[in-house]
Amino acid sequence: MARGLFITFEGGEGAGKSTQIRRLSEKLRRKGYDTLVTREPGGSPGAEALRHVILSGAAEPFGPRMEAILFAAARSDHVEQVIRPALERGAIVLCDRFLDSSRVYQGAGSDENAALVETLVHVAVNGVMPDMTLIFDIDAEAGLSRAAARRGTDQADRFEKETLEIHQRRREAYLAIAEKEPDRCIVIDAWASEDEVDDVVTAAVFAALEVRANSERKTGGAG
Ligand code: TYD
Repeated sequence: MARGLFITFEGGEGAGKSTQIRRLSEKLRRKGYDTLVTREPGGSPGAEALRHVILSGAAEPFGPRMEAILFAAARSDHVEQVIRPALERGAIVLCDRFLDSSRVYQGAGSDENAALVETLVHVAVNGVMPDMTLIFDIDAEAGLSRAAARRGTDQADRFEKETLEIHQRRREAYLAIAEKEPDRCIVIDAWASEDEVDDVVTAAVFAALEVRANSERKTGGAG
């Protein structure tokens, strides 16, 4: 079976993930790579329907378990309808947020939340794990003011409107994941200029593509 490359982009609010995903996807396409850009929550028709329910805050009154399960339901649909088929045809998939967002946003607060999220993540990803996760690290206050500037007069969404302290804890939680899974995760200083961040992202991704091409050459094909 041909296997593409699955790259996820993670980080707090205002870290500049979307801009970098756009720049990277343009570069990859120019070089002729079949590249799919997608996002969570959402990315498939079923998951996009849930995105609205979740981000509007409509599910908030029903509690964090309900929200965690909705994120997982959306992820399961997205994986099976979009991500897995793209990887099977050999595409590079760039996904704006994935399972680590659930760990950081829904899994925080108690061991019970963390355990629930791990169970849900396991079911939702169904074996489709990122090959590489780029964690855009930024000071929580700086990130929030960037996000507010970008949003203009629109209301902050369900998660963006939470306190600075919660955002700071999320940053720590991302760094803890990176420390625990160093083979998969790369922490990127998202406060650097757009061009500098682009250089780091490009170097990491093209190095991974090189490794993949070498191992395909050794095994005499697409694995
Ligand atoms: P979005 O507008 O896509 O924001 P961003 O530019 O920050 O990526 O909003 C997605 C929000 O949903 C964001 O605040 C993080 C949150 N989220 C979770 O809480 N859990 C999850 O599993 C995912 C995928 C996102």
